[in-house]
Amino acid sequence: MPGYVVIASSNGRVGIEAARDVLEREGSALDAVETGCRLVESNPADHTVGLGGLPNLIGEVELDASIMDGRTLATGAVGAVRGYEHPISIARRVMEETPHVFLVGEGAERFAREMGFERTELLTAESRRIWETKLEEEAPETEPGLMRYHENVSRWLSMIRDPERPAGGTVNFIARDRDGSLACGVSTSGWYCKYPGRLGDSPVVGAGNYADNRYGAAACTGRGELAIRAATAHSVVMYMRMGEPVESAVRKALEDVNSLEDPYATGLSIVAMDPSGRHAAGTNRPGAVYVWMDEDSAEFVESPRLLVRQVCR
Ligand code: GLY
Repeated sequence: MPGYVVIASSNGRVGIEAARDVLEREGSALDAVETGCRLVESNPADHTVGLGGLPNLIGEVELDASIMDGRTLATGAVGAVRGYEHPISIARRVMEETPHVFLVGEGAERFAREMGFERTELLTAESRRIWETKLEEEAPETEPGLMRYHENVSRWLSMIRDPERPAGGTVNFIARDRDGSLACGVSTSGWYCKYPGRLGDSPVVGAGNYADNRYGAAACTGRGELAIRAATAHSVVMYMRMGEPVESAVRKALEDVNSLEDPYATGLSIVAMDPSGRHAAGTNRPGAVYVWMDEDSAEFVESPRLLVRQVCR
């Protein structure tokens, strides 16, 4: 088995080589996953994470992230953060600088400011255009600029029932460093056109993210409500604790998710790693892949995810 290895959801391509370089220089798994996530957060072409992420119903980009250290089970998370490009780094500061594990909304933004993070306009011209076009099509009775002043925006929640645009996106990174420590990082702009303040699984430790050096690590992309209901990332790690190989742990956790009734035509995907660095990924949507690199990789490798078909809608 390799001394170090890093895996990511497919949109982690833009960050995985930098994450691998951290591990190559004997950096920690925590530094590797933070480095990888930051590069995805800065990629304006990725409309599911960080800068350029698609906004909520009222046109605000709200970011969520979490990070977990498998050595100690220390963790930090932020939710519904506006105006800061790197929620993964704010989450890490929550873990390292406060007695808390989870800050949301204005409190998380205040903390980011106090920690010296710079404010950034997250809604790019392209993401604004995508949002305004959707509003013109689906809510022609309102002006995009007036959405935030409406007293009842929940009537437009029907816009998120869009099978062509899954709730997913999000970036997952899991790394094992040369010391054999695991860490997991997750960052997202969440479900496009979500109700303001909605949190998915990404900042909810145990749902979208979990790492424990003794048993393994897991992270999710896709419809976070499902991962919260099934405590999916923790379930994968628990299945490994019960003796399941990593592929089988992913399969079982996806079967748990697939047994949930869900009226939304959306899916969930998982990446996971065991303490030795063996990794696997699964999905209930056909065609998905994940990426990985280890000590022997000259470039990242793209591998198919195990398909565990949805049984309920
Ligand atoms: N998995 C990301 C979200 O549901 O927000």
